[in-house]
Amino acid sequence: MHYLATIMVALGANLSIFWILSANSWLQTPAGGEFVQGNFIVSDYFQAIFNPFMVNSVLHMFFATLETSLFVIGGISAWYILQKRHQKFFALSLKIVLAVAIAVTPLQLYIGHLSGEQVYHHQPTKLAAMEAQWKTIPAGESPSWSAIAIPNDKAEQNNWEISIPGLLSYILEIKPKLSEPVLGLKEYAPEDRPHQIGLIYYAFRIMIAIGFLLAGLMAITVLQWLRGKLSSENITQQSWLLKAWLFSAPLGYIAVESGWIVRCVGRQPWTVYGEIRTVDTVSQLPASNVLTSLTTFAIVYSILFISALYFGSRIIKEGPNFGLPIPEQEAKATPAKHIPDSRPVTSE
Ligand code: HEM
Repeated sequence: MHYLATIMVALGANLSIFWILSANSWLQTPAGGEFVQGNFIVSDYFQAIFNPFMVNSVLHMFFATLETSLFVIGGISAWYILQKRHQKFFALSLKIVLAVAIAVTPLQLYIGHLSGEQVYHHQPTKLAAMEAQWKTIPAGESPSWSAIAIPNDKAEQNNWEISIPGLLSYILEIKPKLSEPVLGLKEYAPEDRPHQIGLIYYAFRIMIAIGFLLAGLMAITVLQWLRGKLSSENITQQSWLLKAWLFSAPLGYIAVESGWIVRCVGRQPWTVYGEIRTVDTVSQLPASNVLTSLTTFAIVYSILFISALYFGSRIIKEGPNFGLPIPEQEAKATPAKHIPDSRPVTSE
């Protein structure tokens, strides 16, 4: 029953990824119909569901959850090994994580690149915010990529910046030169472009940095595995590597939050990109109602979060109980105990 419940939760979560990302992608690239006096009339549901952003966004989110889970399991495994508890079991657990991470971490970088490319082609204001790009860069150029900057919304410029020459077109298209211009934020009136440029710019960089960090950690650990340093006898000597795994456990969550900031703060001032403004979709409800439901959500989710931390860490501290019998095997070993043959025969 426990295993079935686990599978059902995974199935439910993946269905959720599909439909939420399909709906959210439609807000980014509406398709499958047209707007008539503020109402969207769907003429083709298939096109609406499989809108231009959909496939890649579903994949990016799917791999994000997979990667996050992998590094949580890896971090917990590393914690047990560092504690010298059940190290044989958790050395194997870490290796299973690694075997999946070999495929997942580089794939996520590539799908992330495709996400950037689709933003480049469909959402110029979001791209300009992600890159804190104030002035337009014409097609055919090979511009530098801004690695760290202090964007200044008021002065419409970056106060300070470190950039890497020639990298932007490789990041956007894996090509030496831009095929389309990168439109600068100044091309748009302030009410037609996102604000909080610093937030979007840094959320994007935090997500990328975590993506590379996790892929790097995977690569170094695989190298140590190949050198025979991950056997259950000598894995405890890899304390720096195990600590890195422990440190990496929450990073996936931070990358996921950063990704959503890029995607949805970057979409502003639009609810439906280029079609319906956020100011026009604001609910008619009184502010006090909105505050009540927001506060309720905040309280319920804080309780859930604290409970998850409390019960999760209690289970982890206790550790697996290898003494527990597996019900079916136990039944086979001691038939008299469980098989109702030993009941007294009653005559009617
Ligand atoms: C090189 C690494 C990465 C790049 C270039 C990248 C790129 C992007 C871009 C451009 C977006 C915005 C898409 C849009 O607005 O439509 C995005 C969103 C997102 N990213 Fe990343 N990303 C990378 C790594 C990661 C990692 C490691 C995670 C999590 C483990 C992650 C999680 C997300 C999430 C949850 C979203 C929002 C949902 C979605 O668009 O699917 N990203 N990413």
